[in-house]
Amino acid sequence: MTLTDASTDSALEVLAASLVTHADREGPLLPILHDIQAALGQIPSEVLKPLAAALQMTEAEVWGVVSFYHDFRQEPAGERVVKLCRAEACQARGSEELAEDLLRKAGISWGGTTADGRLTIDPVYCLGLCACGPAAQVDGRPVARLTPSTLQKLAGVA
Ligand code: FES
Repeated sequence: MTLTDASTDSALEVLAASLVTHADREGPLLPILHDIQAALGQIPSEVLKPLAAALQMTEAEVWGVVSFYHDFRQEPAGERVVKLCRAEACQARGSEELAEDLLRKAGISWGGTTADGRLTIDPVYCLGLCACGPAAQVDGRPVARLTPSTLQKLAGVA
């Protein structure tokens, strides 16, 4: 997604402020990316080049970090974010079937956001709730022992 000129200016302001905040820090890339993500809901491509230049890295190195961590988004998430566990213990308790139902009801695939911007569904690999699976996080709140109806209600697609 390409930002408008005003949004690009705003993103560059966030970057500049974060660079100042973390100027004396060793290894400031991740904290700066977290600042940008928190302020803008995404890591816009427009910040990659100036960020790389400021940290004396290549743009490819910065992009490698952004694309490695799932929590850094290249597009803003929906109003509600459901992170559904796909790791083994939850799979054994039916998480894949839950996921298929939810994705079909929402009309999106993993990592997607509904056209109305209300819901994003992301995969996650273990939330530490293995004994209480299937588990998920809804807007950062852990939920466990999910059934199709509770998950769909939590996701707002019931
Ligand atoms: S496997 Fe799902 S929470 Fe651990």
